[in-house]
Amino acid sequence: MSSKPRHLTLIAATRKSAGDLHPNLGKDPLWRKLREEAEDSFAREPNLARLLRATILERDSLEDAIVHRVAGRLANDHVSAAQIVAVFERALARDPEIVAGFRADIAAVIDRDPACDRFIEPFLYFKGYHAIQTHRLAHFLWREQRTDLALYLQSRSSDLFQTDIHPAARIGKGVFLDHATGFVVGATATIDDDVSILQNVTLGGTGKETGDRHPKVRRGVMIGAGAKILGNIEIGEFSRVAAGSVVLQRVPAHTTVAGVPAKVVSAAQKNEPYRDMDQILGQLAYDSFTYSI
Ligand SMILES: CC(C)(COP(=O)(O)OP(=O)(O)OC[C@H]1O[C@@H](n2cnc3c(N)ncnc32)[C@H](O)[C@@H]1OP(=O)(O)O)[C@@H](O)C(=O)NCCC(=O)NCCS
Repeated sequence: MSSKPRHLTLIAATRKSAGDLHPNLGKDPLWRKLREEAEDSFAREPNLARLLRATILERDSLEDAIVHRVAGRLANDHVSAAQIVAVFERALARDPEIVAGFRADIAAVIDRDPACDRFIEPFLYFKGYHAIQTHRLAHFLWREQRTDLALYLQSRSSDLFQTDIHPAARIGKGVFLDHATGFVVGATATIDDDVSILQNVTLGGTGKETGDRHPKVRRGVMIGAGAKILGNIEIGEFSRVAAGSVVLQRVPAHTTVAGVPAKVVSAAQKNEPYRDMDQILGQLAYDSFTYSI
């Protein structure tokens, strides 16, 4: 199995011909594929026609589409979708990492979720995907000292997507929140690239530390459902945390821990635990996409 993260290949392939933040349809295979899926849904499900038009078929690019989908979900009577779109567009123009995250995270869902083989599914429906993209905007605002708007987005996202991610937390690319419900992340936590996290995971403090007090999750980690990781401890790259574990101590790289409190149960069998969910369908979906580039 290749150790190269697949979404990087995918991003490189899409960027190679894209050239700017608003690539046109013919030059952006991911955008082309999403539009094809939307046209197919449009033909089969008339009740979704308005949603499909507003979020995909009348949009200019993948980025424009994602911004409108997420803003549409976050909007309410007090802060409109148009306001959120405007803030998002400014953030995208200033921070190319947000765009890279949009793309890597959607590719990560297709690669790792055995129940999903269409880009339109995370794009339209998956609250984990929407929560992470909302966090990318909140984090941008936090770094710009626009604290109130950042916290507003955190609270709105929390209401809608059942995740609570502090805007100061640093989250890499290719991050997949499967189900996402109950995911809680403290302000000084870090999640590196290519991490998969199941529902009801906490990256929190012990209550005994101040300052830098939350976990640092390194590249390629898989965190099972219900795991609680507490304190400023490192979860080493390509390690696994078993479902229901309470992790209070550093986890070495390529290691599996389980239990309460968590203990080492094995060295990781594979190099890519973050891709362990079900590789067969994910591989097929990925191949059928990349071969069409
Ligand atoms: C940890 C995990 C990845 C399996 O890793 P593995 O290296 O294949 O581990 P094994 O199944 O060989 O088990 C090794 C030991 O850990 C124990 N173990 C495995 N998972 C455990 C868990 N969640 N809690 C406590 N102990 C666990 C096993 O009982 C076994 O103990 P033993 O050696 O005394 O018999 C898997 O059990 C897990 O927790 N996956 C997360 C899945 C998830 O969150 N699903 C939710 C879907 S909605």
